[in-house]
Amino acid sequence: MWLLFDKDPVRGDRTRRYLDRQGVAARVVAREEEIPGDGRDVDVAVFMEGWSEATVRRVKETFGVAALYCALDAPQPERYAELSQAGYDDVIPYPPSPEYVRQWERRASQQAAEGELMSLESLVGTAPRKTSYTHLDTRPFVEKPTPRRAKVIAVTGIKGGVGKTTLSVLIANALMAKGRRVVLAELDPQGNLAGLMKQDRVVTADRFETLPDAVTDPELEQNMLRTEGGWWLIPKGERPLGLSRDGAGRLIHLTGQYADYVVLDTHASRLVSTLVGLQEADVVLAVTTADRTTWTDLRPFLQAADKPAYLVMNRVRERRRKANDVALFLTRETGYKVVGILREDQALYERVQQGLVPMGSRKTGDAVRAVLRAAGVTGGDSEASVEHVKRKGWWKR
Ligand SMILES: Nc1ncnc2c1ncn2[C@@H]1O[C@H](COP(=O)(O)OP(=O)(O)OP(=O)(O)O)[C@@H](O)[C@H]1O
Ligand SMILES: [Mg+2]
Repeated sequence: MWLLFDKDPVRGDRTRRYLDRQGVAARVVAREEEIPGDGRDVDVAVFMEGWSEATVRRVKETFGVAALYCALDAPQPERYAELSQAGYDDVIPYPPSPEYVRQWERRASQQAAEGELMSLESLVGTAPRKTSYTHLDTRPFVEKPTPRRAKVIAVTGIKGGVGKTTLSVLIANALMAKGRRVVLAELDPQGNLAGLMKQDRVVTADRFETLPDAVTDPELEQNMLRTEGGWWLIPKGERPLGLSRDGAGRLIHLTGQYADYVVLDTHASRLVSTLVGLQEADVVLAVTTADRTTWTDLRPFLQAADKPAYLVMNRVRERRRKANDVALFLTRETGYKVVGILREDQALYERVQQGLVPMGSRKTGDAVRAVLRAAGVTGGDSEASVEHVKRKGWWKR
């Protein structure tokens, strides 16, 4: 059994359940008084932040186990020395990985004598460890108890005001018109989607920071808003930097079990939520305009995501020939294909200005549907995946 020292009992319990799903029995200790008297079955002690050196040493001595410090963020190398001084044997990222921690379990610790384990001491002062996780190789906290059934579309870009939010709404409308269950989540902390949709934000994305890892459909619905268009909306929350890795991961995971499509309206920069969105996406749609400044640096941004990505040029005013030339140039320069050219749509613009739900002209609608087909979101591809889902029996409607 693991002892999990976490002064935050809610997180502690969540971690315990997470470990339980991976076959690890853990007991949460939130206060000193809760440290068990008998420690025969304790294999390892994992500490979250805030525990005193005395406690760490006492636990190590009482139970004769290794003490691991579990860090929410990658600590600076200097910090390793401090943690080592405080009695910790190793530093691990949160959530604790059972495979990794197992090497520290008491039964395994015999091997330590034979010098198989790397101690924290041996790491301090040696080659610099990775000091920050590139967010793209982090896993969201949530394990996937059932396979995701939704296709996740991340709408992104590197410039503000190019129409990410507008395209997200147009996509949600188009998919809804095909009778699909659609959730559109506003991951952009500076977004205005909820305002655009005239929704009061009693429900926000922040709720996904603390929701349990598994919820029922009705519970999930309470955390989303039904829009006029028939699809579901998750408005942004109050957190200035948007959702945490954990929150964004859970949002995608939970809605993904429920919807056919999850559309993520992301912020135009490398926020954690954007990176989790890109990581979890099946398809990335990056929005630009015909203006060069909207695609400089787009290539490395999309490359880091390492996902099928397509470009959509929006608010295009150039004549068709000129626009096609720009699209070809853009494709050549970035290495990503332009799958749609959406023209500046006066009707849409006016609707938004009048405070109406963004809805484009027929031409814009056609262009959006073409984008979805070309990016493999709908059409042959999607029907195939529905078939696949049916065969596997996850389809319950
Ligand atoms: N094809 C279009 N035709 C006319 N107006 C458009 C079009 N696409 C977007 N707009 C308008 O451009 C403005 C910016 O669009 P939007 O908010 O979708 O951009 P964004 O990329 O999400 O911006 P931000 O980075 O601020 O979130 C809005 O006023 C929107 O109505
Ligand atoms: Mg936006």
